[in-house]
Amino acid sequence: MQYKAIKLVKRPGIHITPDLFETVTLETPVLEDQQILLKQTHMSLDPAMKGWMTEDRNSYIPPVELGEIMRSSGVAEVVESKNDSFSVGDRVVGMIGWTEYSVSTGQNLSKLPPEVPAEAVLCVLALPGLTAYQGLMEIGKPKPGETLVVSGAAGSVGSMVGQIAKAEGLRVVGTAGSDEKCRWLEDELGFDKAINYKSDDLAKQLADATPDGIDLYFENTGGPVQHITYNRMNAHGRIIVCGMIADYNTDKPAPGPNWINMIKRRLTVRGFAMPDHWDEVPAMTAKLSVYLQEGKLKYRAHKLNGLESAIEGINLLFTGGNKGKLMVEL
Ligand SMILES: NC(=O)c1ccc[n+]([C@@H]2O[C@H](COP(=O)([O-])OP(=O)(O)OC[C@H]3O[C@@H](n4cnc5c(N)ncnc54)[C@H](OP(=O)(O)O)[C@@H]3O)[C@@H](O)[C@H]2O)c1
Repeated sequence: MQYKAIKLVKRPGIHITPDLFETVTLETPVLEDQQILLKQTHMSLDPAMKGWMTEDRNSYIPPVELGEIMRSSGVAEVVESKNDSFSVGDRVVGMIGWTEYSVSTGQNLSKLPPEVPAEAVLCVLALPGLTAYQGLMEIGKPKPGETLVVSGAAGSVGSMVGQIAKAEGLRVVGTAGSDEKCRWLEDELGFDKAINYKSDDLAKQLADATPDGIDLYFENTGGPVQHITYNRMNAHGRIIVCGMIADYNTDKPAPGPNWINMIKRRLTVRGFAMPDHWDEVPAMTAKLSVYLQEGKLKYRAHKLNGLESAIEGINLLFTGGNKGKLMVEL
């Protein structure tokens, strides 16, 4: 049987362009002992992929080498097995790559309960929920009644951060790039306030929405929200630096805020990367599953169709065209 996969063949410049990729047709191999054959059903597209495509060898994860299948996580079904730990029909989540089929020994794959939809896995229980939980709860250490601002609030990580914070009793203010996204945050997810960061009076709107100042800032984007929020931080505030997507497609990264407020307000500013915390995944998954069962975590999946839709579709993350977790249905 033949299947398609997409290899990275060129490093990106400022933007991700189709010439970075090559679609190849491969033959499914005859399985060896301990191997399983996976048919991927849902493939995650993430902003971090831009970084993985570059030559940077000083990041939290090595780059994808040229000629390799592009790296991604996904949900797959076992369609053949020579491994006693996996049966045909089992569903798994893990790093599978931009490919329709994949051969694995099962290492670093997690089996999924049959009742959890693939969308819920990629929107909540995989990277977005884990990142939100790790950053907010383990680093931010929120207390009920505190005020949180989260940028990129309508995105996959940001929407989880805001909902977990609401479940923990915080006042939650989010920023997002369209009025539709802001309405979704307030009307469906229960944010106390959502602000379109493209508004002319962003500083005033943020001040009005945070009358008692800001205790926690969950940074997903950079951009104008960052400086305004930084200057409204309360004493002993915590800034959780998760992502800086406003700088991913530029050769001139924006200057950061002046450090003086870190001293005056005794702030903690902490960057983190979820892959450093894989040993904490089982405990975090259990917590996220409870929120999910209690209906405290809503999500929306933005689905593209077919493997090759990833090539152009990944750019929706950088234009704000995605409404919810971006994924490819295969
Ligand atoms: N540290 C970690 O371990 C970790 C793990 C996962 C993700 N992240 C980071 O978390 C952030 C969010 O990732 P995600 O997967 O949840 O993606 P996402 O928010 O679902 O999608 C990306 C969103 O970023 C927004 N955006 C794009 N360009 C922007 C700009 N110039 N200024 C402000 N917002 C912009 C767009 O929303 P709007 O319409 O609102 O502009 C877009 O929909 C990214 O920075 C990502 O790198 C970090």
